[in-house]
Amino acid sequence: MSRSQWGSRLGFILAAAGSAIGLGAIWKFPYVAATNGGGAFLFIYLLICMTVGLALMLGEMALGRAANSNAVGSFRQLGGRAWPWVGFTGVLVCFLIYSFYSVVGGWTIAYIGKSLSGSILTSDAKVLGDTFNGFITDPVQPLIYHGLFAGLTLAVVLGGVQKGIENLSKFLMPALFVLMLVLIVRGLTLPGAMDGLLYFLTPDFGKVTGTMLVDAMGLAFFSLSLGMGVMITYGSYVGRDTPLLGSSLWVIALTVMTCFLAGLMVLPAVFAFGFDPSAGPGLTFITMPAVFAQMAGGQLFAVLFFCLLLVAALTSSVSLLEVVVSAVMDEFKLPRRRAALLVSAGVFLLGIPASLSLGIWREYTVFGKGVFDLLDYITSNLLMPLGEVLLAVFVGWRVWPVVQGELAPGGRNPLWLRAMRGFCRYLAPVLILGILVHNL
Ligand code: PHE
Repeated sequence: MSRSQWGSRLGFILAAAGSAIGLGAIWKFPYVAATNGGGAFLFIYLLICMTVGLALMLGEMALGRAANSNAVGSFRQLGGRAWPWVGFTGVLVCFLIYSFYSVVGGWTIAYIGKSLSGSILTSDAKVLGDTFNGFITDPVQPLIYHGLFAGLTLAVVLGGVQKGIENLSKFLMPALFVLMLVLIVRGLTLPGAMDGLLYFLTPDFGKVTGTMLVDAMGLAFFSLSLGMGVMITYGSYVGRDTPLLGSSLWVIALTVMTCFLAGLMVLPAVFAFGFDPSAGPGLTFITMPAVFAQMAGGQLFAVLFFCLLLVAALTSSVSLLEVVVSAVMDEFKLPRRRAALLVSAGVFLLGIPASLSLGIWREYTVFGKGVFDLLDYITSNLLMPLGEVLLAVFVGWRVWPVVQGELAPGGRNPLWLRAMRGFCRYLAPVLILGILVHNL
């Protein structure tokens, strides 16, 4: 079967980075880091990304390219009967993540509107908190925006791999970086910001707990889009002449840097305005408007910020949808259009209880968590780590020669490759299982 291909190496890196960089880095990282004590969390997050994260990203890309197939097909082709289940689970996780991701993506659209109307341009913590909570607990509004977000994602995916994803990533991701730098400078020059900076950068390893390790690991995999077949699917569109090590190093570096910048952007401001660092999922949405309110041309910056956040979220949601669509197309022999429509409809439906669980359905909980929190917890902290272990075992033990052939053609076995094999064979399974068991 002939598959579409990326237009260039740069296009591939940007698309993979576009998948990785998104709400995970800009919305989730700051509040998870803040609730986990700052500095030490950042350090552990970085460490996991650079070791196990790198090994698994390389492994995924190599699998996809070697098998030239989607997340399910790659496991089947290279591993035989028992393994497609790992791929299936990954596709399912993508679907689950996408459902609550789209709800949060919808919030960014709503905040573009609130920036345009100027209603959030204040430094009053109470007004900002009330606005955010009033909005996400509303039974109707967030659902409309969730539908809009899912519709936008669908439109991009129907445009085909190259046109849709590459073009979007190429121009707008650099713009996001520049804007974040401007906002960091503004935030850091606010009185009181230094406490936030210290909180974010000073590691206090006395604060390391089991929960923190699980959170750091979950966030590392979430933010790098690992363990669900995204990088397998994207890898299957890569030509043989593209070196995978360099590409994945770029993707990881860009993602880690975005997380770091997002932390620098949000946390000093949180302290400067005296907000609560453990405010949870609302942190970025509550803090950034206060920063805009203190800037010349703040409204313009607010609109720009939420527009770029939307784009970052879209390039990630596109990858979530693409993985599921690609698997559904190949496995059920459906045309792209029908597969994309079906999956989007399912995501929209599942997003409804997720969104309502933050408001009128708050009482309905399982293990003390509403649907939204449950989807987030089960995917990031349980299914993704388990998927990673299986992926690591598959790459390190079952198909290593194939992966080695992809990563270093011609029978070479450089040091970094041996380290990767060690990470996949031993470090990843032991570390991930250890953290999971410790937490239980
Ligand atoms: N990495 C994306 C983000 O941080 C989310 C994502 C997770 C995308 C898993 C694809 C797969 O926003």
